[in-house]
Amino acid sequence: MKKIVMMLAAFMTMNLSACSQGNKKESKEMTKVLVAYFSATGTTKGVAKQLAEVTGGKLHEIKPAQPYTDADLNWRDKQSRSSVEMKDKTSRPAITDKFKNMKDYDVIYVGFPIWWYTCPTIINTFMEAYAFKGKTVIPFATSGGSDIKKACEDLKAAYPDVNWKEGKLLNRATKKDIEAWVKTLTNDLSNMSTIYDYKALSNKGKEVNFADYKGKVLLVVNTASKCGFTPQYDGLEALYLKYKDQGLVIIGFPCDQFGHQEPGTNEEIEEFCRLNHGVTFPLMSKIEVNGENAHPIYKWLESQAGFAGFAPEHKLSKLMDEMLSKADPDYASKPDIKWNFTKFLINREGKVVGRFEPTSEPSDLEKPIEEQL
Ligand SMILES: Cc1cc2nc3c(=O)[nH]c(=O)nc-3n(C[C@H](O)[C@H](O)[C@H](O)COP(=O)(O)O)c2cc1C
Repeated sequence: MKKIVMMLAAFMTMNLSACSQGNKKESKEMTKVLVAYFSATGTTKGVAKQLAEVTGGKLHEIKPAQPYTDADLNWRDKQSRSSVEMKDKTSRPAITDKFKNMKDYDVIYVGFPIWWYTCPTIINTFMEAYAFKGKTVIPFATSGGSDIKKACEDLKAAYPDVNWKEGKLLNRATKKDIEAWVKTLTNDLSNMSTIYDYKALSNKGKEVNFADYKGKVLLVVNTASKCGFTPQYDGLEALYLKYKDQGLVIIGFPCDQFGHQEPGTNEEIEEFCRLNHGVTFPLMSKIEVNGENAHPIYKWLESQAGFAGFAPEHKLSKLMDEMLSKADPDYASKPDIKWNFTKFLINREGKVVGRFEPTSEPSDLEKPIEEQL
C-alpha cells in the first residue's frame, strides 16, 4: 500500500512532456518509394519531380528508346506515331534505361500524360518490364483537361495482380496540393507495411533488421528501470522462457520519456535488467517513442494500434487515467504511448495484432500470444 501511495505521489509530480534523449542515429523507415514517369513535353516531368521531393522517393524517367518528335505527337494526324500506337492496343514502344533495383521498391508512383483519354502504351511497356505483382502502384497524370479515370481502369484491367491505389490528375498541382494528396495516401500505405520494414540499434549499438524476425511472433515493449511497472520485466522474461521455443521473441526498447524513469546508459540498463530481473530477451538501444524524435518503428506501431484502454481491474488504472486526463483530457483518443511497458503483439506476418497498455500484466498476454503461435 505504502508503495502505491509513493508511486502516486511520484506520478503526480512527473513531467509528462517528452525528454529529448533519443538516439538520432536510428535508421529511417524502410518503405522505398519510386516515382517513375513518362513525359513527352515536360509537364508530367515537372509534377513527378515535386512528387519525388514530397515523398522522398527516387525519381526515374521512363525514356522511349526512340524519342517522340513534334510530328509523332500530332494527335490531329491519324498517321502520326502516337495516333498509330494508341490505336493499336498491342503496341509496346521500347524503353531505354531499365531500372535495375525495382525489387527493392514497395511503392511505385507511375506518371504519364493522358493520350486519347488513357495512358500512352509506353506505360504498358513499363508495367510489363518488371514484376509488379503485389507491389503498390499509384498512377498520376497531366492532361489538357481529360480526367485520369479511364487510364486507371485500363491499367487495373490489364494488370490485376498489382495493388493499385486510386490515381490522381495533377494538372497545375502545387507542391501543397501534392503534399495533401500524399498525406491522404499515407494512412493507407502504412496499413500495408510490416515491422519487417524497420531497423533499430541493439543495446550494443549494432543494427538490427526486423526482417530477420520474419516468421516469429514478436512482443515489442517500451521499458524503464525505475517505474512502478518495472517488475513486469520478470513476467516478460517468464513469457519469453515459456514460449521462445515456439517462436516468441520479446524486444525491449528502453525509453526515458515517462517520468525520467530510464536515466541510465544502454550498458547500465542491460546490467540492471540482467542482474535484477534475469532478462535474456533482446534489448535495444534507448529511444524516444513519442513526439518529433520518436523512432520510426514506434510511429508505425502507434499508427497500427491506438490506445487500448487501461485494464479496469488493475490497481493503477484509475491513477493512470487521472494523471493522463489532467495533462490532456482527450488523451484516450490519441494513439501515442501513455507510459512505460506498453506492449505490441506482432503476428508471424509482421502485422500488429494487439496493443496492451502498461496495466495489462505479462501473464494476461498468454492467451493472445498462444493464439499467434
Ligand atoms: C498524342 C496526344 C494525345 C493527347 N490526348 C489527350 C486527351 O485525350 N485528353 C487530354 O486532356 N489531353 C490530351 N493530350 C494532352 C496531354 O495530355 C497534355 O498536354 C499533357 O500535360 C502532356 O504531358 P507531358 O508534357 O508530360 O508529355 C494529348 C497529347 C498528345 C501528345
